[in-house]
Amino acid sequence: MKKKNKIIIVDDEKSVRESMEMILKDKYELLIFTRGDEILKEFQEDMADVALVDIKMPGMSGIELLKQFKTMDEDLEIIMITGYGTLNSATEAMRNGASAYVNKPFSKDKLIEIIEEKIKKREKSRKKKKRLVELENVKKSLDERTKGFYSSTVNSLLAAIHAKDGYTSIHSEQVARYALLILDACASFIKLLPEEKDIFRYLVSLHDIGKIGIPETVLGKDRKLNSQEWEIIKKHPEIGVSIVNPILNPMSALKDYICIIQDHHERYDGTGYPNGKKGDEIPLLACIISIADVYHAMRSNRPYRKALSKKETLKNLRAGRGTHFNPKILDIALKILEDYGD
Ligand SMILES: [Fe+2]
Repeated sequence: MKKKNKIIIVDDEKSVRESMEMILKDKYELLIFTRGDEILKEFQEDMADVALVDIKMPGMSGIELLKQFKTMDEDLEIIMITGYGTLNSATEAMRNGASAYVNKPFSKDKLIEIIEEKIKKREKSRKKKKRLVELENVKKSLDERTKGFYSSTVNSLLAAIHAKDGYTSIHSEQVARYALLILDACASFIKLLPEEKDIFRYLVSLHDIGKIGIPETVLGKDRKLNSQEWEIIKKHPEIGVSIVNPILNPMSALKDYICIIQDHHERYDGTGYPNGKKGDEIPLLACIISIADVYHAMRSNRPYRKALSKKETLKNLRAGRGTHFNPKILDIALKILEDYGD
């Protein structure tokens, strides 16, 4: 048997309550109250489909009760019961979200017709709400799957870097570690959500992914590179972009992060590569990587030179203030690297 729809009746007049009960009791489950404050004590969202509320009641008025109902259950269909001289109040009630009003004395058929219409409306909005919740859940599970997809794609690419060049693999991890510390110290003006920080971390660890496309004779050379070889190395940011772009493309919001790969060798004075971007043209996220990248490179032993001491490295970074590096980010990064850099 179909469950009966629930109707709240709030009316201070005994005769009205009784006549409504008589008319409606066979068809609906009735929750009958004499005052607004009485129902509000036990009212909760989705408690009923329709409320029949008398406009003129001692204590809390019907309009006040209507407003309270709407804050607690915005989809509750509220029909105001109006008597002589309350037409203005009925108009006010409609403005405040009432679904309809019925004049006293009311006919049984008319009242049931309005209630049925409002029940249908309520069921429709309930279905819509349910659908929205379902969609939200689908979106959440897709987000989770996308996240999983991203981390496994990044891991595959990191494994590819590792297979190609062990140094670049260690370097990428360390640069990501320093870059995250610097990013946190810039939190007052670079505001990223936790999910955006995850993307930042993924892409920093892939900042040199383009080196996969550089010949091993150049990448693994144990002497200083000649100018021709440098030109080849300089291609790695753009190769990196072409590797990572297909992953980012479907999500346009992620495109803001491609600078991490594309611009990490740009210099503040415009002498960097690949595009010779200058000053504020270089996104701040790329400026962070640039510092972390140079710091770790200088602190590493390379076949063609020994690692610089921490003191020398910091001195070199300082010397690049405003030429190689964004001065604002550098000042913050130096403090971080002095304390936490290896
Ligand atoms: Fe690089």
